[in-house]
Amino acid sequence: MRNKIVAGNWKMNLTFQEAEELLSEIADKLEKIELRDTEVVVCPPFPYLEMALDIAGESVFSVGSQNLSEYEKGAYTGEVSAQMLASMDVDYCILGHSERRKYFGETDEIIARKVDQAIRHEFIPIVCVGELLSEREAGKHFDVVREQLEKGLFFLSEDEFSSVVIAYEPVWAIGTGVNATPAQAQEMHAYIRQLIESRYGKDVADETPILYGGSCNASNAAEIFAQPDVDGGLIGGASLKAEEFVKIVEAAVNKK
Ligand code: PGA
Repeated sequence: MRNKIVAGNWKMNLTFQEAEELLSEIADKLEKIELRDTEVVVCPPFPYLEMALDIAGESVFSVGSQNLSEYEKGAYTGEVSAQMLASMDVDYCILGHSERRKYFGETDEIIARKVDQAIRHEFIPIVCVGELLSEREAGKHFDVVREQLEKGLFFLSEDEFSSVVIAYEPVWAIGTGVNATPAQAQEMHAYIRQLIESRYGKDVADETPILYGGSCNASNAAEIFAQPDVDGGLIGGASLKAEEFVKIVEAAVNKK
């Protein structure tokens, strides 16, 4: 059966000292719980990755980046390549987040090139999909998510796809305090799993973790994660507080 994953997306927050403190607190708290089949991933900003990896080395969590370049190497000032991150032993990377799509013009085509880089360098990509409020209101949310998956992800071979994690993050729920209801999350997750099944077959679909993201916190995580097709969460704001984040991890661990 597929693993559960709780990943913290810190976005562009915290100073180095605050980041170090938060990671140490998370490590301390994780020591007291048995994770069983739940993986914990922390995705800090690039400059903190090395420090995060040091702390992760003594703990049970893994480290991910929030982005990587679509290019392999060379004259791309300011970019960070998959190869560089892989050489530091970063395991995961978040790709296609709605903030990258909105503020940095990332299209499904760009995201596909990043996914390709991630797979080539043996990352576990956490690929985000999700609709805008206007798209949901117009009844287009399934079509939007299908198109994002088809263009950004379904070019992978079955073998390549087997390392992918998907995060369903309705854009209207991100950072708004308005989470999708457990029923809305389940409905979309089941739809995504069905799309994976038609493309890659039932075995792959059953093994692909699909995380929910968007105003997920310690109070609502248990009921969202209780849905059969929700395999954990991608957590923004609530991942910046150790106690809250670890409570969300516990909600995943306790999922039946
Ligand atoms: P949020 O963000 O938990 O703050 O809503 C989630 C995300 O953007 O990944």
